[in-house]
Amino acid sequence: MSADNVYPVPQNVADHALLNRQQYDQMFKQSLADPNAFWAEQADQFLTWFKKWDTVNNSDLAKGHIAWFEGGQLNVSYNCIDRHLEAHGDRTAIIWEGDTPGDTRHISYKALHAEVCQLANALKARGVKKGDRVAIYMPMIPEAAVAMLACTRIGAVHSIVFGGFSPQALRDRIEASECQVVITADEGLRGGKPVPLKENVEKAIDGIAAVHTVVTVKRTGNPVSWSEPRDVWYHEIIDAASTECEPEPMDAEDPLFILYTSGSTGKPKGVLHTTGGYLLQAAMTHRYVFDYHEGEVYWCTADVGWVTGHSYIVYGPLCNGATTLIFEGIPTYPDASRFWQVIDDHQVNIFYTAPTAIRSLMGQGDELVKKTSRQSLRILGSVGEPINPEAWEWYYRVVGDERCRIVDTWWQTETGAIMISPLPGAIDLKPGSATLPFFGVNLELVDNDGNVLEGAVEGNLCITQAWPSMMRTIYGDHERFINTYLSTYAGKYFTGDGARRDEDGYYWITGRVDDVLNVSGHRMGTAEIESALVLHDAVAEAAVVGYPHDLKGQGIYCYVTLMGGIEPSDALQKELSDLVRKEIGPIAKPDVIQWAPGLPKTRSGKIMRRILRKVATNELDSLGDTSTLADPSVVDDLISNRAGQ
Ligand code: PRX
Repeated sequence: MSADNVYPVPQNVADHALLNRQQYDQMFKQSLADPNAFWAEQADQFLTWFKKWDTVNNSDLAKGHIAWFEGGQLNVSYNCIDRHLEAHGDRTAIIWEGDTPGDTRHISYKALHAEVCQLANALKARGVKKGDRVAIYMPMIPEAAVAMLACTRIGAVHSIVFGGFSPQALRDRIEASECQVVITADEGLRGGKPVPLKENVEKAIDGIAAVHTVVTVKRTGNPVSWSEPRDVWYHEIIDAASTECEPEPMDAEDPLFILYTSGSTGKPKGVLHTTGGYLLQAAMTHRYVFDYHEGEVYWCTADVGWVTGHSYIVYGPLCNGATTLIFEGIPTYPDASRFWQVIDDHQVNIFYTAPTAIRSLMGQGDELVKKTSRQSLRILGSVGEPINPEAWEWYYRVVGDERCRIVDTWWQTETGAIMISPLPGAIDLKPGSATLPFFGVNLELVDNDGNVLEGAVEGNLCITQAWPSMMRTIYGDHERFINTYLSTYAGKYFTGDGARRDEDGYYWITGRVDDVLNVSGHRMGTAEIESALVLHDAVAEAAVVGYPHDLKGQGIYCYVTLMGGIEPSDALQKELSDLVRKEIGPIAKPDVIQWAPGLPKTRSGKIMRRILRKVATNELDSLGDTSTLADPSVVDDLISNRAGQ
């Protein structure tokens, strides 16, 4: 091992874990040497199939064709619920912790089965059938998981839109995936404040005739506008429905869900995942990365509106028969010890959260953590952005009492499941490194010309072979799928991330190398924010870049050129900020808006973002060559008017 700070696997952890280092090495080797045999064995072990597959892997990255377990048939809700009923029907599937402390529910596998069947039947009665798209715009309540599973039961394809997105963003997604049904709640509740979900849905679907049904869960009970026959109450339709519903046999390659995510250009992309491969890898990674042992309580703090919520609140854990905790609230309500209180209240064994939360709680001091026990904890996870070593050490020392293993998991909406992560009993930890690849993940670092880089080196992170939970396409735009992911380095999947590999083969993710921002673990494209800004009549042009932000990881820095004759003002700045909020949602609110009389452009008119990034981060010594700009003097102006952060 190198001289980095290393936390070796303690012997007692290795002894108790599902996999030790020797087993990891052996399985990893097999997964690359004989992937078909490896994945067939895993698919047998982790899933229940109605019909076995004919071929394990029929993928060709160069052609943009990805297919796993073709000919096989299964049903996701059957795997996540029914098959656990005989032995564990009374086991708690979902622990729900509401926004208000003490507001909790326990839902057994048996009860989950009944409610999923009821909603599935109710959706069928409203005409929803296999292949139809259903939008889900929900708070973090158990009904969100029920809605997902009910869709999978009848073969409908869900498209979840994060409850923090604006009506406009919801509308764009409903239209793009042609949803005819929306499942929502009257209001969400976060930190004691209501979120007007139903009202947002009204605005989002105004004028979209294709949406024939809106199912609303009564969460707060506050009045909402209502339009029959389109609107139905969740509790009324499920009360009227049978608690038995045959699961639809789905082909392994039938679509399971669409999830929109941001890219470096254009509108968000509808990432499409299919049934067999996705479920297999979600379940398998959940079991091995979190070293999940039967009976343990597992809590992932993500929102079901993001891929982490899909794979690691709902599908992975439930497929493994786990007890998964769903938390409605926020880490700082009623105070900043909430996470640790919930861990004690529900005796959580495995806790999975984001660096941005860790950093902000770290800033609140150790006392709020130390006043709680946390003795139940065994494994701590991190996801969504690079975790800085200081936050890692605090998580390890203060939250985990130097007893818990930390798993820093790297993956993406597109990968469907964790791709790089330590396994608790197998892999020595280095703070800040996601460590080694998961089974079947063949990583490569390449330079900008696509040359493969060997040894300890930094480069662009690629994956050279298809894996089961890989996205299959961008919904409705297969060309864009190939262009975005498989063409930059022909025949390889390009992640959009940069990474360094050290002398021990450990990976250190350095962040995005494209125009995608990661703000508090939320992914967004600079192009989306720019499009929102230029909607304002006063704006001629806008360019957005990221800059390092202590809590959020990255902040949003906007350069705005106003139309001739318009004077900058604080009021205008607020209008622009509100506009971005309205178009995308509060997560995209600019941190800095700098008025820029001109933007640095090449003679062919291309904005030089490199220079804008340097000005935003105040790295003025390394601006590079500005002589090729059409008008080099704009840079001086940008520097002298640099906005304070
Ligand atoms: O840049 C990487 C970062 O998040 C991006 C994927 O974002 P999204 O699709 O929203 O999925 C987030 C949750 C899986 C990646 O391209 N990222 C994710 N996990 C890590 C990370 N960066 C560093 N370390 C991680 N553990």
